[in-house]
Amino acid sequence: MPITDSYNRKIEYLRISLTDRCNMRCTYCMPPEGVNLIPHYEVLHYGEIREIVRAGAWLGIRSVRLTGGEPTVRRDLPRLVGMLKEVDGIEEVTMTTNALLLSKLAKELKGAGLDRVNISLDSLRPDRFFEITRGGDLRAVLEGVDAALEAGLSPVKLNAVIIPEFNDDEVEDMARLTFDRPLHVRYIEFMPIGDLRLHKEKKFIKAAELIERLKKVFELETVEKGAGMGPAKTFKIKGAIGTIGFISSMSDHFCGSCNRLRLSSDGWLRSCLFNEKLGVDMKTPIREGASLEELKELFMKAAGIKPEGHELDRRAELDFERTMSQIGG
Ligand code: GTP
Ligand code: 5AD
Ligand code: SF4
Repeated sequence: MPITDSYNRKIEYLRISLTDRCNMRCTYCMPPEGVNLIPHYEVLHYGEIREIVRAGAWLGIRSVRLTGGEPTVRRDLPRLVGMLKEVDGIEEVTMTTNALLLSKLAKELKGAGLDRVNISLDSLRPDRFFEITRGGDLRAVLEGVDAALEAGLSPVKLNAVIIPEFNDDEVEDMARLTFDRPLHVRYIEFMPIGDLRLHKEKKFIKAAELIERLKKVFELETVEKGAGMGPAKTFKIKGAIGTIGFISSMSDHFCGSCNRLRLSSDGWLRSCLFNEKLGVDMKTPIREGASLEELKELFMKAAGIKPEGHELDRRAELDFERTMSQIGG
């Protein structure tokens, strides 16, 4: 039975933040000293996550995406992938990762049933990458990209958050990555979550502006949206193997077709990335022995309070208390 929310959107996609811990410290995502971490006992165990996914799948969730912080820092991750892939009704298990550890894990994750990965990659210059991520090793990440392709975790999408005077001079080089390998580069508008001062100072570059800029250098062909393609507007450079896409969360939001709920690592089922308050506690009931039926009802409740849109342009002051690493992107 598919669940629809109050605005008749079919809810099929669950993003699961496995941890708020991360092995990078991206400057736009978190402060240098890191953030207050959720104590281990508050974090959902794999068995608890599976029960919540079972309830969701019963109601129509078909796709789950593992996020963080950084999901690969959770111990024994392939075991969870296997557990979720076996849940009746779940068609796809995917992951968003910074890929620092992926070269070692890709094959095992694929073997356990992981379908595909999205990899964050905000610069192709080692020194700049080191700076943006406060210590990240670009070579390890690129090895992670190679390993994902080799393991067949396809399509492999690369996420680049484009920030003016930060990395916007690299958009053409990023597009060139799609020439000879099946890589799908997505340029993401910088959203006001994480370092709000940086966002105030730098703002974001509109997807439409980037498209115009790239059109001056490359011949772009539109790629029609297929099933499960998500919110990116997608193009192909003539002759290229991969694609380039644009995620315009700010300039042209896609709330009207949003099909997702998100589960935080401490067990809150939230209905919108931009609203910390519209959520339902799943952890307490599950730890008090809630039945599958009760979990399904809580799921319905979370879908029922999903707002129509983020209304960022109408909000006087942005007041997020949590960073992206805590929310799960
Ligand atoms: P696909 O299934 O491959 O399309 O995944 P995705 O693009 O939904 O996920 P990914 O984790 O790669 O996220 C890409 C960008 O979309 C990131 O900047 C996320 O923060 C952003 N994003 C993810 N979910 C939402 C959402 O519900 N609303 C908005 N506005 N942005 C989101
Ligand atoms: N705006 C847009 N995307 C962001 N991400 C992290 N912070 C932001 C932000 N403020 C991206 C990461 C990762 C994905 C989960 O979210 O780069 O690719
Ligand atoms: Fe960077 Fe993602 Fe870690 Fe945030 S959660 S510091 S964006 S790798």
